[in-house]
Amino acid sequence: AMAAERTLAMATCTAPVNIAVIKYWGKRDTDLILPINSSLSVTLHQDQLKTTTTAAASRDFTEDRLWLNGKEADVGHPRVQACLREVRRLARKRRGGGEDAAALSLSYKIHIASENDFPTAAGLASSAAGYACLVSALARLYGLEEELSEVARRGSGSACRSMFGGFVQWQRGERPDGTDSLALQVAPETHWPELRLHSLVVSGEKKPVGSTAGMQTSVETSPLLKHRAEVVVPERLAQMMQHIQDRDFEGFGQLAMRDSNQFHATCLDTFPPIFYLTDVSRHIIALAHRYNAHHGHTKVAYTFDAGPNAVIFALADAVAEFVEVLRRSFPPATNGDQFVRGLPVGSAALSPELVAAVVTEPGGLPGVPNPCPAPQPGPGPQLVDDPSQHLLGADGLP
Ligand code: DP6
Repeated sequence: AMAAERTLAMATCTAPVNIAVIKYWGKRDTDLILPINSSLSVTLHQDQLKTTTTAAASRDFTEDRLWLNGKEADVGHPRVQACLREVRRLARKRRGGGEDAAALSLSYKIHIASENDFPTAAGLASSAAGYACLVSALARLYGLEEELSEVARRGSGSACRSMFGGFVQWQRGERPDGTDSLALQVAPETHWPELRLHSLVVSGEKKPVGSTAGMQTSVETSPLLKHRAEVVVPERLAQMMQHIQDRDFEGFGQLAMRDSNQFHATCLDTFPPIFYLTDVSRHIIALAHRYNAHHGHTKVAYTFDAGPNAVIFALADAVAEFVEVLRRSFPPATNGDQFVRGLPVGSAALSPELVAAVVTEPGGLPGVPNPCPAPQPGPGPQLVDDPSQHLLGADGLP
């Protein structure tokens, strides 16, 4: 046939990290990844933190292959397979079963290369960006245009929220098949550009209990988690949406802190208990409260996921002062500049009263929370048009 049967196709996308302010913790279906409660997050700008993924399909590939940060990884991982299967199923459905000679053949094997521009173990929701990026790149490869948060969810629950920019809700859904367990944008990134999210890397070590295993033990043993999912989260979700709508940092910050704390309380209520926060995490919490008390209102808010690293929320005009407070409280020492990235934050002079009231631990602590730059809310996954940015060469190898 003269039809231009395509023998190699490639697509590259980037995808963002998201930070939950109403936390997801607990599944009602572990295979489909259906949550026991809805959650709400902020998508981070991709200037400093993002995942890049190239997906390629070719007649000449003999097997599916996957490379993560340059190293070959297990493409047979059930969650990677679930995403691949779902994207191929949607592509097949779109073509109505018939093989279109001009379309990329669905029988071709696939090569995937993915890279994070941040430390994988740094507690920065790398699996969320990773699966959102995988699904976005595969969708591009097969020319799918529909909303694919349902597919990203099969990779990692929180990944469905990285399919959108700005402020995003993952609605738990009711159906047993998960078709209504989707992410929805609550407000675009332009809605609240003054909001800043500052990552404090307390430890680059891998967490002792992963989220997947941890949340399952919580579902099985924690009465507090049950109460949280049934009673607390529905109320908080409505409140949080209102605070975002109103750009009310006082309400937003207070509720984000309370929800992070309740999530960690459910971890302590899990049996055997799970501890993600460390002494350094608790020092950051106390520091934020002393700082807010000194100012008489909520200028900063913290949130912690399944690890000791903090994300600090603040409005743009409060970032420099709080970063200086952090520097004074945790002088740079042992792990040096390892996690310092990107933009300088600018320094602020602290009043003696503020130092006396807030900075109570000069001399430092074992872990060093190195401030990463403070990104704004940002957009969802992006297509990378420039072919020189592909992570795979013309031979389909990294
Ligand atoms: C504490 O999405 O990593 O970060 O669905 O098992 O892959 P799996 O879990 P994951 O859990 C994230 C939990 C959290 C809270 C959140 O992001 O909402």
